[in-house]
Formats: sequence, structure tokens, C-alpha cells
Amino acid sequence: MKLFKFIASTLALCAVFSVQARSLDEIKKGGKIIVATEGQFAPFNYFKGTTLTGFEVEVAELAAKKMGLKIEWKTIGFDALLTGLKQDRWDLVIASHGVTEERAKAVTFTAPHYCSGGMVIAMDPAIRNAKDLGGKIVAVQTGTSYLENVQKVTTIKEMKNFPTDVDARSALTSRRVDAWVTDRFVAKEVVAKNPKAGLQLGEMVFIERIASAVAKGNQPLADAWSKALAETMADGSYAALSKKYFNEDVRCN
Ligand code: ARG
Repeated sequence: MKLFKFIASTLALCAVFSVQARSLDEIKKGGKIIVATEGQFAPFNYFKGTTLTGFEVEVAELAAKKMGLKIEWKTIGFDALLTGLKQDRWDLVIASHGVTEERAKAVTFTAPHYCSGGMVIAMDPAIRNAKDLGGKIVAVQTGTSYLENVQKVTTIKEMKNFPTDVDARSALTSRRVDAWVTDRFVAKEVVAKNPKAGLQLGEMVFIERIASAVAKGNQPLADAWSKALAETMADGSYAALSKKYFNEDVRCN
């Protein structure tokens, strides 16, 4: 009985540790890559009705096509995206993740698909930059680089976290907080689409390179993705998408 228990627990342990990311070859053989995103971060990844779309959803479609692959999309809360790579629930994540040292310990990043940064948005035009956040209540999405960077502003009164960036925005428009820190292009679009909401674009608090991520060490997949992405940047298809969404080219340079 003891021996049986030992064998059973050893097998269970093996099962846990043998979860391995699908290799590039396996993915190619199957003809489809499983890509996860959040779906609540317009204009990068969001739902138009029931259809998942957005700049990075379309960029991913372009890159996958270059690799000869179809995408099976999964959408899930932002917080679960990178950990799902470790559990082999999907092959790649594209959800506006900034490349940070901390994240690079847990996942392997591809080449970046755009460059941006965190921006201050407030109703009060006097709140424009990190210094102005002093004594204020600031909203950010949980698990983001905005949170990390706002935390560094030691003079703030309070930071409030929200499960989605949309919730963080609502906190500002309903005046439960004084400011919201989010992506520069997200902010621009929200302000442009809600001209009467009284939202004021402030300044950038920090800049970041945004990339897809694969399971830690799955370098062949990361390289193949980066190569496909580079091809979309070389053949004009990336530029066309970027123009459509932002009226400018958002690639890193
Ligand atoms: N760029 C920020 C970060 O690196 C925010 C990403 C938020 N993405 C999302 N799909 N909500 O954390």
C-alpha cells in the first residue's frame, strides 16, 4: 500500500512537472496556434459585439498567416494570461504586455509589436503628470505596468486597483478617483470618443515596449513569431493596420 502510494504520488508529480509548452514543430503540424488575449483593452484587443478585434488581434492574425497558421483565440482576465503559458493552456499571449524584467523571469518575450507608455488622465486639467498625482487617488488595472509605475510615486494618497482597465476608467468618470493611468493610445481613443466626458489627457509617466509572450524558454516559437512580425513590418501590412487604428505608425524605432 505504501509503495502504491509512493508510485501514485510520484506519477502525479511527474504529470505536474512534465507540462511542456508545445514546440514550434508541434504547432506547425497541427496548423493552428492557440493565442490568448484579454478582450477588454480597446483599441488593442476588444470585442465589437461578439467579435474579438483590435490592433494587436489583427497584427497577430497577420503574423500567424505568415507562419502558415490559423489562430484559435482564447479570452481571459488579464491576470491569468501569463500564468496560462506556464500551464500550457495556450501557446502565445498578445495583450499589450510591456516587456519588464520581472515578467521576463517568467516568460519569453517576442520582438515588440508597438511602443507606448502610461499616461495620466484626469477630469481636473491641473492633474497632468506624476508630480501632480501627489495627494491624489489614482486608478490602475491590476497586474499592469501602470500599477507598478504609479506605486513608485510615493506622494500619492491612494492607488485603487481594478480587474479591467475599463473599470479603472469608470472609477474616474464617476469621480471615485482623481486620476487614471493607462496606455497612451487607450487614453487618446477614450478622450476622442467621449468628447463631452470632460476627460483631460495628461503626460506620459513612463514608456515601454509592448510584446507577445510565450512559455519561458520556448525560443523557437518566439523567434518564428518575431520573424513573421518583421515580415508584416516590411511588406506594409503592419503600417496599414497601424494607420487604420492610430493614424500613425506605432512600431518601436
Ligand atoms: N501595458 C500595460 C502592461 O504592460 C497594460 C496592459 C494591459 N493589457 C490589457 N489587455 N488590459 O501591463
